[in-house]
Amino acid sequence: MTRRVDLHGDIGEILVSEDEIQSKVVELGRRISVDYAERQLTLVSVLKGSLPFMADLMRAISIPVRIDLMEVSSYGGTATESSGLVRILKDLSATIEGDDVLIVEDIIDTGLTLNYLIRYLRGKNPATLRICTLLDKPARRLVDIPVDYIGFTIPDQFVVGYGLDYGEVYRNLRFVGVLKPEVYSEPA
Ligand code: PRP
Repeated sequence: MTRRVDLHGDIGEILVSEDEIQSKVVELGRRISVDYAERQLTLVSVLKGSLPFMADLMRAISIPVRIDLMEVSSYGGTATESSGLVRILKDLSATIEGDDVLIVEDIIDTGLTLNYLIRYLRGKNPATLRICTLLDKPARRLVDIPVDYIGFTIPDQFVVGYGLDYGEVYRNLRFVGVLKPEVYSEPA
C-alpha cells in the first residue's frame, strides 16, 4: 500500500531554516552582483529542484541578468541514487555563446549531473561557466566538481524541501529538512 504523505509530519529535523536560506540567498546575490558587474550574466537553472532557489537568487541579484532553464533527469536511477547517465528533458531556449554563465543548482550530491552538464554547456562556447549551489553534500561525491558559490555544506542525510523532493513531493516546504527514515524505507 502506498504511504500517505504528511508534508510536515514526515520531517524529522529542520536542517536549514527558512531564515537561514533567505540570509544566504541575499549574501550570494550580493557576491554574484559584485563578481559579475560589467559582465553578461546568464543564470541557467537546472529544474526542477533549483526552482525556488533560482526564483529567490535572481531577485537578490542587483545587476542585469538573463535567465534560461534546463531540465535533466538521470536514467535508470532510483529515488535516492543517481545512475550517472543524464537525459536532457528541456534544453536551453537561447544561445549562451559569449555569455558569462552561472549554473544554479539546488544540491550537488555525487556530482554526476553537473559533470555531464558542464561538458554539455562548455560545448556551447560561453565566455565563462561557473556553478552556484544552495547545498553541497561532499561525502557523496564521485567526481570532482569546481564549485564557485556554495550556500551550505551538509552531512550525508536524506534532505527534502525548498525544491528538493522525495517521490516528487516536499518541494514546496520553505526550509530544508531531513526526511524521517521510515518514509523512504517504505515504497514512495
Ligand atoms: C537532483 C539535483 C541535482 C542532482 C544532484 O536532481 O537537483 O540536479 O540531483 O545529484 P548528483 O550530484 O548526484 O548528480 P534530480 O535528478 O533529483 O531531479 P529534480 O531536480 O527534478 O528533482
